[in-house]
Amino acid sequence: MQFKIGSLALKNQLVLAPMYRISDLPFRLLCRAQGAGLCFSEMINCEALIRNNKSNWCLAETIAEDFPLGMQLFGARIESMRKAAELLIEKKRFELLDLNLGCPSHNVLNQGAGAALLKRPERISEIISSWKDLGKPVTAKIRIAPNVLHSIKIAKTIERAGASALIVHGRTIQQENSGKIDFVAIKRIKKSLGIPVIGHGGIRGNAGFELMLEKTKCDAVMIGTAAIGNPGVFAEILGEKQIGRKEALAKYLELCNSLNFTLFGHVKQQVLRFLAGKENRELALRITKAKNLAELKECFK
Ligand SMILES: Cc1cc2nc3c(=O)[nH]c(=O)nc-3n(C[C@H](O)[C@H](O)[C@H](O)COP(=O)(O)O)c2cc1C
Repeated sequence: MQFKIGSLALKNQLVLAPMYRISDLPFRLLCRAQGAGLCFSEMINCEALIRNNKSNWCLAETIAEDFPLGMQLFGARIESMRKAAELLIEKKRFELLDLNLGCPSHNVLNQGAGAALLKRPERISEIISSWKDLGKPVTAKIRIAPNVLHSIKIAKTIERAGASALIVHGRTIQQENSGKIDFVAIKRIKKSLGIPVIGHGGIRGNAGFELMLEKTKCDAVMIGTAAIGNPGVFAEILGEKQIGRKEALAKYLELCNSLNFTLFGHVKQQVLRFLAGKENRELALRITKAKNLAELKECFK
């Protein structure tokens, strides 16, 4: 089923999550080919973009086929968030500007960014308001709080500030990225808003996808870890023929090559993710030892 974020029509209800060192350009293209209707970039550091940090700009790399794309930013200072968003809009094509309000990593929390902002609704409102006149629909990705009333308050703040959709991860900060999903909390947040809600957390396949839609009445579903090394999960959910992990890996390397995506350490980690499982242990070990792209390619000969 189609759904819309602002005026952006999406072909289905399947969304790839922003994942640090996972949701890169070649990986997003693979997920799209398997049916993902919307993809998000991994979180990009606003301050680093402003400092013109090369590897952070590399994370914002995109091409025409990488459509529709949500670019996710993290940061805490309003001026930097505004400036980074302006620079991104000036230099890159993308469709949605997403605010990270869920990252539980200490490094991000210590900057007052990610999930730390959930304690500061007025700051969230100021950041979203500062993005509103830039001409892109704004989205935000939150985690639930132990008390659902706090989450509803945050969700309403985000809507009032002008966001066009909300992504709700049904786990608390303490749960990080594992543990039970609170469908009731997602449902109550959805019910309290007029904007679309993307339900998120713990979806492994078609049964989980259907359950999320049924239990929360959300508008779409976001897939995270189930896609790592396994972009075929989108085709599986859609009931279509899915690509195997090894074939996906070969395609990933082809795409890295043709897109000149050569952040070696990053590509190496991605490759290892496609090779999860005992049967690939030997190959994975050889890859771990590769010191450059040439040595990495040698492992597959
Ligand atoms: C390796 C990894 C990197 C992640 N990076 C980000 C990120 O950059 N931005 C973000 O909002 N969430 C990030 N997350 C959280 C995921 O987007 C997602 O919310 C989480 O994995 C729960 O979804 P799941 O249960 O489908 O895996 C990351 C998760 C993992 C496992």
